[in-house]
Amino acid sequence: MTAPRILLFDSGMGGLTVARAVRTQLPHAHLVYAADNAAFPYGAWKEDALVKRIVAVIGALIDKVEPHIVVIACNTASTIALAQLREAYKLPFVGTVPAIKPAAAQTKSGIIGVLATPGTVSREYTHALIHTYAYHCKVFLHGAKRLAEMAEQKLKGTPVDLDQLRQEITPAFRQREGKKTDVVVLGCTHYPLLLDDMLKVQPWLVKYIDPAPAIARRVADVLDETPITESSKPVPPHNSVLLTSAREDAADSLAAYSAMGFDKPEFLELPV
Ligand code: DGL
Repeated sequence: MTAPRILLFDSGMGGLTVARAVRTQLPHAHLVYAADNAAFPYGAWKEDALVKRIVAVIGALIDKVEPHIVVIACNTASTIALAQLREAYKLPFVGTVPAIKPAAAQTKSGIIGVLATPGTVSREYTHALIHTYAYHCKVFLHGAKRLAEMAEQKLKGTPVDLDQLRQEITPAFRQREGKKTDVVVLGCTHYPLLLDDMLKVQPWLVKYIDPAPAIARRVADVLDETPITESSKPVPPHNSVLLTSAREDAADSLAAYSAMGFDKPEFLELPV
């Protein structure tokens, strides 16, 4: 029986947190991870240029991998390009957007912190989520400039600078009229990689929401409805990692991907 081919995409290593959950949910799936590391970090890109780039890169990846489903394991990409991707390519996409809805359901204080990239916090999509699901809460968005990079460094073996981490997360912890943030949304797929360090420096105890398990369940549900066909040509093997820049040709980067189960690297020459 043909295994469903799942293409997981992020600007860098953050989507590996989603890949991990998908692997647990669907142990028999054929996973291919793609990172647009040539353009990392996405957080600081201008919107128009980023949408064009994402649509082009995903097109090339779909051609190469012939996936049954594409998981955009990146909030920064999903909040800006999901609609355009669905329009451009006729196959199922599952995106990753800040988990505002579950946060609003779980907060008791009514004060929610959102940690995300500067791009994600500025998106209309994110503001619409708040308006729709958390209109009765106070939501503090923080565009963290360095967290994604810190997460990658950690995965490559560099110890996390805890003072810097404290500075990056503290703006999500707020107090209003005697109440405090009690739920923090991890609105970038890189951030769960830093969770154990966040627990060491958090100003007080909160519940963190990592959307990965919910995304993995959604992928399984969508695949249930998707015909699983053979590929028309040889495709990258299970556990491949496709990279848009050879700058990750460093032993520490490849070891980081390998540690997360993606041990077959391939460097792409994309016309973008
Ligand atoms: N992992 C990405 C996200 O979920 C973004 C990291 C970046 O490229 O800035 O938003």
